[in-house]
Amino acid sequence: MLVYLNNGLLPEADAKISVFDHGFLYGDGIYETLRVYNKKVFLIDEHIRRLKRSASLIGLTVPKTDEDIKKIVALTLDANGLREAYVRITISRGEGPIGLDPALCKAPTFVVIANEFKNYPEEYYRDGIAIMVPEVRRNHRAALNPQIKSQNFLNNILAKIEAKAAGAYEAVMLNTDGFLAEGTISNIFFLKDGALCTPAVECGILDGITRALVLDLATKTGIKVREGFYRLEELTASSEVFLTNSTMEVMPVSRINNTPLNPGAITSKLRSLYKQAVSG
Ligand code: PDD
Repeated sequence: MLVYLNNGLLPEADAKISVFDHGFLYGDGIYETLRVYNKKVFLIDEHIRRLKRSASLIGLTVPKTDEDIKKIVALTLDANGLREAYVRITISRGEGPIGLDPALCKAPTFVVIANEFKNYPEEYYRDGIAIMVPEVRRNHRAALNPQIKSQNFLNNILAKIEAKAAGAYEAVMLNTDGFLAEGTISNIFFLKDGALCTPAVECGILDGITRALVLDLATKTGIKVREGFYRLEELTASSEVFLTNSTMEVMPVSRINNTPLNPGAITSKLRSLYKQAVSG
């Protein structure tokens, strides 16, 4: 595999960064994960916009223009001969002496990794996946805003550890006020009184690019949508629940803690509309 590091492509084994990189020392950096369908990067403008928003929220200057980023992503995909792929763009604060001050780092580290996308097992979409609600709460947005898609992922990793121990695929966290927030790498949707509901950005979530597209597709197809503050009981009482992200797309949920659920018609409708949007 060839990896793009700072100014060019390198064989995977040579694509190394310093132990003094503040991304490694402090998790000081940001990233985006994108999906590539048939060589075309899906919603790249939206991902670049969010990358720049994350950068701005941590006072980091993106070391490339939007056009550069697009060219580098295309170059990396091409160099690896990829058609169905995922791309991860990571920008860390860069190398610098020990110390928290971002000014210690002279230049950000810029990395693009592209690899073949291996589909999730078909039964995940047919039967749904198990989710659980962990003890750990989503970072308070006044402490570390989940809208910063940062390299500092320990909050999510702690939730993922709980999910694994419980035999669940994904952990969906509550916020510190006990309202539903989001999964470790996904947003959550559920049906309530005929409307498609999802936690509002104000609950302290990453406003997923897939989430925005699903909200738009649902609205256009005449499904009522609501963004709000919801309790776990509203989720477990729901007839249909699904998760979204750039690689999972629209993935049905078959169990929440011990409550079983069946994938339903609205979920499959939105999944097929999403597929159409991808091929369109
Ligand atoms: N994760 N919430 C969190 C905490 C996420 O990390 C992600 C994405 C999402 C969904 O965002 P989007 O629809 O834009 O992919 C929500 C990516 C896939 C990752 O961590 O690699």
